[in-house]
Amino acid sequence: MKIAVAVEIDPGEPRVSATPDTVKKLKALGADIAVEPGAGVKSGILDADYEQAGATIASDAVSGADIVLKVRRPTESELSAYKPGALVIAIMDPYGHDDALQAMAKANVVAFAMELMPRITRAQVMDVLSSQANLAGYRAVVDAAGEYGRAFPMMMTPAGTVPAAKVFIMGVGVAGLQAIATARRMGAIVTATDVRPAVKEQVASLGAKFIAVEDDEFKQAETAGGYAKEMSAEYKAKQAALIADHIKKQDIVITTALIPGRPAPKLVTADMIKTMKPGSVLVDLAVERGGNVEGAQYGKVVEVDGVKIAGYANVPGRIAASSSSLYAKNLYAFLEILIDKKTKALAVNWDDDIVKATALTRDGAVVHPNFAKAAV
Ligand code: NAI
Repeated sequence: MKIAVAVEIDPGEPRVSATPDTVKKLKALGADIAVEPGAGVKSGILDADYEQAGATIASDAVSGADIVLKVRRPTESELSAYKPGALVIAIMDPYGHDDALQAMAKANVVAFAMELMPRITRAQVMDVLSSQANLAGYRAVVDAAGEYGRAFPMMMTPAGTVPAAKVFIMGVGVAGLQAIATARRMGAIVTATDVRPAVKEQVASLGAKFIAVEDDEFKQAETAGGYAKEMSAEYKAKQAALIADHIKKQDIVITTALIPGRPAPKLVTADMIKTMKPGSVLVDLAVERGGNVEGAQYGKVVEVDGVKIAGYANVPGRIAASSSSLYAKNLYAFLEILIDKKTKALAVNWDDDIVKATALTRDGAVVHPNFAKAAV
């Protein structure tokens, strides 16, 4: 069984799908590991590190591989080098990319989308959305601190007192919780909002204050899967009024609000930003899904009346060594269920809920129920 670790050809992707640690573990599962030259460099891993862990370095690493590990979905030209029937495991970004799914089906690979991992206890260790969002939440606060011209903690010095920064986190899922924890560690005064009531206690337990419109709709705003619902126009208006009043007193705003399968909710309007003090900073982690902040631009920091709006691209990639390390562990945990430990061979159980939820293409067709019509 041969596993290939492919280099990421997208220049905006510094992460890698394996580390020396996971290479060692995969070898113990009975695999030969081939790594494309330079695959780990942008995550601080040299070819020699992989070699020391027992991998070979080869520019044709993917050729003949039974499994190809990647961070991003392969392009058609990458696919042309893969063995028909190979398992390709990556963050596939499948929504709205029917052509790309068809290309993978046509290349006759078995594509697995790691971001479709079900949120069940057994799959927590494979949950790339959580592992990457957690680090993105941390990095957003560090980025905000970098753009902010003042200190985060209160400092009492002989030359005077520096006040603590006021940080407001909007959307308290995995990224938001880590953003709260990070801003608190840095000494900021932190408030947070979300539409899911379950969050209230979590916010308090991290030492932040919860701010939300807590009406009847709010009490039912969580889906069985633990995600947010799209809120009514009436709720959104009440929420906007509350936020408008709160935001003008904030120095830093970090937004992370997402609704699965829909564009990100617009939470901060240009009018709200006008009320903020010059020097304030907004970081929009939802920018890739349309953004929570009006005026946020993907991949840019823009300034409006002295207020900075950051829409960094690929925030987990801005902390690539840590993100790669957790992503590689997510992939290893997934591979463990695809490989028979006794025979040391591939043994995919197509009836396993985890396999069913993540398999996009198989036997030349798009097989995932959410995307199957893409094959027609
Ligand atoms: P997400 O990335 O889909 O959304 C981020 C946050 O934005 C959510 O908390 C959501 O409620 C909030 N949001 C949406 N619309 C909003 C609005 N209009 N105003 C304010 N906030 C808004 O969420 P994420 O991080 O994926 O977490 C979703 C849930 O899944 C959480 O309860 C989390 O604890 C849970 N989870 C469960 C796991 C498991 O059981 N294996 C693993 C990871 C997360």
